[in-house]
Amino acid sequence: MDNFVIRGGRPLNGQATISGSKNAALPILAATLLTREKSEIKNVPELMDIKSTFELLNYLGKNCFYGYGNFVVEERAGLKQHAPYDLVRKMRASVLVAGPLLARFKKVRFSLPGGCSIGMRPIDIHLEGFKKLGAVVSYEKGDVILSARKLKAGRVKFRFPSVGATENLMMCAALIEGTTVLENCAREPEIEDLAAALVKMGAKVEGAGSPTIKVTGAAKLKGLKHTVMPDRIETGTFMLLCAAAGGRVRLLNTAPKTLTALIKAMQKAGVKINCFKDSMEVVAPHGRPKPVSVDTKPHPGFPTDLQAPWMVFMARANGTSEVHEHIFENRFMHAPELVRMGADITVLDRKAVVRGVPQLLGAPVMCSDIRAGAAMVVAAAAAKGKTLIRRIYHIDRGYEKLEHKLKDLGVDASRVKA
Ligand code: UD1
Repeated sequence: MDNFVIRGGRPLNGQATISGSKNAALPILAATLLTREKSEIKNVPELMDIKSTFELLNYLGKNCFYGYGNFVVEERAGLKQHAPYDLVRKMRASVLVAGPLLARFKKVRFSLPGGCSIGMRPIDIHLEGFKKLGAVVSYEKGDVILSARKLKAGRVKFRFPSVGATENLMMCAALIEGTTVLENCAREPEIEDLAAALVKMGAKVEGAGSPTIKVTGAAKLKGLKHTVMPDRIETGTFMLLCAAAGGRVRLLNTAPKTLTALIKAMQKAGVKINCFKDSMEVVAPHGRPKPVSVDTKPHPGFPTDLQAPWMVFMARANGTSEVHEHIFENRFMHAPELVRMGADITVLDRKAVVRGVPQLLGAPVMCSDIRAGAAMVVAAAAAKGKTLIRRIYHIDRGYEKLEHKLKDLGVDASRVKA
């Protein structure tokens, strides 16, 4: 098992190129199940979650070729309609194969993904949606089975704007003739990228990025050629890395317009951010940042995936701030690790009170999930002395070539064998 060793406490100076978005690539790769034709997806990051998707698509009957950011998917004869536990447990986003397979074969069986360290993460919103389109739901040996004699275009109102449920239902509706209206949809930018991909495949999709999405499906969909959008969570993590450690960095191949809530909060705290069309420059405040409280919300609100690195930034603020987590019920696992590095944080249910301290100090810490892991990296770069980060397999799920990019930004980081 690998660890990171980071010697922090010195200001950053450098530039990094942002990878393609993991959270956009995952549903778009699942959407290739909607067609027999060949698809070519570019700007796909090389990450554990993408490798898991590669394995899952191969298992289901696709031939995948993957390297240098290009992902090519072709179909062998006959797809399986069963995503087993061993593949689904590695990555909850595997549930995204349900919509495309149900639409294509009128039957799909997949393992219930189960909870994870950040919360229960049920899939009831997905299932309610499929039922509205005519599917019957049953359960067997830990698997969910969805089946339908015929799927019908319809109206689905989500009780919460779930990102995964919105994506699953969009993909399913793309292969149902007629217009399906999805209401109270997630508005994350990755939804718009999926919509663009479905349109290239031959579906009509209107309203992606707004609460109401209309999908007019086709009897048959084509293969697609698509370039995945830049990863806004990786971008935000590097912005906060610079803000917390000090100095200035340039981030290339990104989309600043997808990060409005973070940019506003960082500017309030005293960070200078110069945005260009597909790049940005971040200049950390002189001295300690001002305390700014944030509430995580569905997009366009403050993203839950940046809550942990934000907390690191606020750990050194010149005063007290609060972080409210409204999306996941157990997403403060990074707080006790930060306390071990000298932070002063109290967690009360879904609220964390962060009393800024002048300096974080290096310590041995561990990652509890992907974004908490990224927060450990940000803390280590900001802290004085050496930090050893354990369980970095969580980080490897979502951050491509991280140690190389950290070096490019001026962080003394290395990957070592445990
Ligand atoms: C996606 C992102 C993840 C991000 C999250 C919220 C991907 C691959 N992952 O996850 O990085 O943190 O959006 O922005 O894109 N819920 C239910 N029932 C459901 C579905 C969700 O109760 O059927 C709850 C979840 O438990 C959670 C909340 O809704 O508390 C948000 O979940 P959702 O938006 O579905 O997140 P994911 O798509 O899993």
